[in-house]
Amino acid sequence: MISALVTASKFFAVLSSFITIGALLALAFLVLDKDGKLSTSGAKIRSIISISAFAWFFSSVLNILFTLANILGESVTAVLDPAVLQSFVLQISLGQYLFFQTLIALFVAITSRLLTSSGYTAILLLISLIAISAPVFQSHAASSGSHALAIGSLLIHVIALSFWVGGVIAIALLNQEDRKISLPRFSQVALWAAIAVVISGVLNASARLNFAAAWSSSYAYVVILKVLITFVLLYFGYKHRNYLAAKPSVNWRAMTRLISVEAAIMIFVTALGSWLSSNQPPSRDSQEPFNAALAIAGMEMPGAPNFTRILFEYDPSIFMIGLLVLAVALYIKGVVILTRRGDKWPVGRTISFALGISAIDFATSGGLGVYAHFAFSWHMVAHMVLGMIAPIGIVLGAPITLALRTLPQSRDGQELGVRGLLIKALHSRYARVLTNPVVALAIFDGSLFALYFTSLFGGMMQSHQGHLFMSIHFILTGILFFHVIVGVDPNPRKVPHIIRIVILFAAMSIHAFFSVALMSASTLIDGGYFESLQRPWSLDLLADQRTGGAIGWAMGEIPILIALVATFIQWMRDDSHEAKRIDRNTARMAALGQPDELAQYNLYLNNLNKKDREANQ
Ligand code: HEM
Repeated sequence: MISALVTASKFFAVLSSFITIGALLALAFLVLDKDGKLSTSGAKIRSIISISAFAWFFSSVLNILFTLANILGESVTAVLDPAVLQSFVLQISLGQYLFFQTLIALFVAITSRLLTSSGYTAILLLISLIAISAPVFQSHAASSGSHALAIGSLLIHVIALSFWVGGVIAIALLNQEDRKISLPRFSQVALWAAIAVVISGVLNASARLNFAAAWSSSYAYVVILKVLITFVLLYFGYKHRNYLAAKPSVNWRAMTRLISVEAAIMIFVTALGSWLSSNQPPSRDSQEPFNAALAIAGMEMPGAPNFTRILFEYDPSIFMIGLLVLAVALYIKGVVILTRRGDKWPVGRTISFALGISAIDFATSGGLGVYAHFAFSWHMVAHMVLGMIAPIGIVLGAPITLALRTLPQSRDGQELGVRGLLIKALHSRYARVLTNPVVALAIFDGSLFALYFTSLFGGMMQSHQGHLFMSIHFILTGILFFHVIVGVDPNPRKVPHIIRIVILFAAMSIHAFFSVALMSASTLIDGGYFESLQRPWSLDLLADQRTGGAIGWAMGEIPILIALVATFIQWMRDDSHEAKRIDRNTARMAALGQPDELAQYNLYLNNLNKKDREANQ
């Protein structure tokens, strides 16, 4: 009985979270706004968001109670004891993640009523996506061997589903006018999301089931049923696109019927999925002796590191790969749009972006990423690649410029649109604060000390989400820092070259200080993580940690030196551009028989001087 209540509350929590996210997506990116402000129909969607978020909150509270009762084998009334409940939601990681999601659901339910702009709606959408991802890190995906495969694929599955299922249900709830406007754009999102749902679902099933053994399990039957129904849903999607292609005579009545049936089927499959995630998959092989590496790092212990293994080992970090595939697909789409328009895009930028992406993949799923789980020295190499080398490639790839040149313009001349939203974000107060070179440096170098010289590092190393968070943090802080210093994309703040050089020298010295502090540390900073892995090679953990410090120093300074050279080159180039501009202007003014800039400026100073002299007489 209790396990049925766990599944039911999970189903309602998942479904209402999907509807909340689908409605937030519709409000932020699908329906028309008025110069970034919500339109009248926007107000209706706002209440859909608030109602579904409240449903999400209540069903999440029930899910916490039923899950706890199920774990303790107690009745629901017994777990209503505040002490028991408090220790579950504050001390037990499953309880903490479920509680986090519940709090965010309540936050969305309340704040969505105050939404007035598509900008804040987009922020609430991001917060909701983080909330639905949290429980995945504590689902039984976390207990299966290959963490990166099981957790990563389920993460993509849940996020893609929230766009696909949530989007279809939200569109079904819109009025006819909004549906007509939203569907063409949603159809693109739905296609990408459906592809992601299928691939991630199959990957997740493969991480849990070897079908040969599990053929007779109800778990496998449900997965197979889901696959079959998914094909029906894909057919619906195909019909969607056909109907939409029949411009100008789209049969909206048939379309609305199609969407309603599709939404109903999706709700049914969501129930099947909730059943799957609330019931243990058939165990793969329980006879195996305890494997510390597999249990803690989520992968087999690799042999002692050598050039070949570093180069060819590969343990796919599915979520990271998902993000990289999305980034590359969007970048290629942008370049294709430009090329089709007959505009040029420097191939150097595409190569630089591709190198940045490959470096991230190598340092997360490649040999570097694998060994970073098993030795501090290799972790530091991966950190330097993610935080220093890959970001330089990404920022010199000018992704923001590409987005600004290819994102869709306003659909009715009044709406802000996706491109307008990006421009608004780039010129926002937050962007101005973040791109302040001192702030960028503080985040870039300050987080080094916050991570490695507190217990944070040891805690982060223990879990897949910790590794994922560290990798994403290194990449984003590196991109911010190098965007401010050597970025070619538009920056709300024009940072003088001399300031950039001072900041780079500051970064070099802080980095050197950090590395020396690490090299001279006499205790391990990983909270016993590397020891718990019982690795059979490079047994002196402290020596390996010191090597990590030395690597941090050597590898950290090289990219900063490259950035220094690049800044000097940019400075000289800007100066020669400025000199050419002044020369061109002088020649033009001379041709017009007018004083050039310098002469005008001297004239202005003379006038000032004359006024002063007259004033003093
Ligand atoms: C090729 C098609 C699909 C496959 C192979 C697949 C497979 C899976 C697997 C293996 C899980 C993990 C279950 C667990 O935690 O043990 C899962 C979860 C789930 N699936 Fe799918 N799925 C597919 C399509 C869909 C579709 C089309 C929907 C909804 C319309 C859906 C809804 C869900 C939900 C709601 C969950 C639970 C997510 C959570 O834990 O929060 N799936 N699926």
